[in-house]
Amino acid sequence: MPPQPIQLADFKAAWDAHRAAYLEAVERVGRSGWLILGKEVETFEGDLARAWGLPHAIGVANGLDALEICFRALGVKPGDRFLTTPLSAFATTLAILRVGGVPEFVDVDQTGLMDLSLARARLAETRLPPIRFLVPVHLFGHALPLSELSRLVADFGVELVEDCAQAIGATSDGRAVGSASRACATSFYPTKNLGAFGDGGAVLCTDEKLAARARSLRDYGQTDKYVHSVFGLNSRLDELQAALLRSVQLPQLAAQTRRRVELATAYRQRLRTPAVVLPPVPANSGSVWHLFPVLIPGDREAFRAHLKARGVATGLHYPLLISSQQAMAEQGQPLAPPGAFPRAEHFANHEVSLPLHPFLTDEDCARVIDACNSWQP
Ligand SMILES: Cc1ncc(COP(=O)(O)O)c(C=O)c1O
Repeated sequence: MPPQPIQLADFKAAWDAHRAAYLEAVERVGRSGWLILGKEVETFEGDLARAWGLPHAIGVANGLDALEICFRALGVKPGDRFLTTPLSAFATTLAILRVGGVPEFVDVDQTGLMDLSLARARLAETRLPPIRFLVPVHLFGHALPLSELSRLVADFGVELVEDCAQAIGATSDGRAVGSASRACATSFYPTKNLGAFGDGGAVLCTDEKLAARARSLRDYGQTDKYVHSVFGLNSRLDELQAALLRSVQLPQLAAQTRRRVELATAYRQRLRTPAVVLPPVPANSGSVWHLFPVLIPGDREAFRAHLKARGVATGLHYPLLISSQQAMAEQGQPLAPPGAFPRAEHFANHEVSLPLHPFLTDEDCARVIDACNSWQP
């Protein structure tokens, strides 16, 4: 019998491992008779804030909305300039476009994350109006250096919103991602390190006023029942997702993150072919390995076919830069010409993500490594 294919994520394994606890959480919500914005959401928010080490968490419908709500809570105005990265999920920039912001990009460094020296140079340019928001992404589960992000805030008065969708639990010099921002965003999309059984996300913030604004924004801008004080949206995390997140997923997160780190360490030690290049990790990053990116200097599709023939699935993060997406042009944004962001383009053209999730066995891990090491371009 051929061995089981190795997937990029395994939701069935998660269900099989924790079935009783999932069903118990569903039962609890069903019996409560309360489905939207109740005790489950409130309790999960408290648990998440404590686990993260930030004062306030606000559950919302997805990571895209979480970013939008951060920008709105911080008082974004149409035409505000934003500095972000061209190498991320499109959602990072889509949230900027949705609030009427103007996205601008700087290239990534060799880690694939925003090059903060380029960001510093851009922020120092004396064009008017100044860049108002800085939106870096802790991509792949790596943490950008928070000390430098805080210095950028102090030196340029820019409003920092960290996109933590891929990096829940990651640290820089021991400090949690998200903690350099007044408001940051994360996602509970099922593949994420803390995944729901559907869509979900959260805003985390440091002060009560911002938390109250975010809570109001997610619920039609209400400050009291039927009193709409700000222009809000419908972006509520529902009780069922909150129950599953708080009873099963969040309590598993630390152990699952340790397993991700273990697997990533095995890959980094045992992938031994010059045909598969490991990009460096940012200095002092306590990474949570949401993804395991490698760079293939040779024929990427042939490499993926070689792994597929050995039952190993692969992904691409991300093959088309945000700065080249047609949706940008549709919104009147200039498309970046080829060569504008050479390092990001290098990732777009050469990156492949290997399977990395907490249900991979040691045998699966060895199979992925053997498949890679046997690749002859
Ligand atoms: C870096 C990043 N930002 C934002 C998002 C958006 O999250 P969601 O899919 O929950 O809207 C994602 C997830 O796809 C992401 O990876």
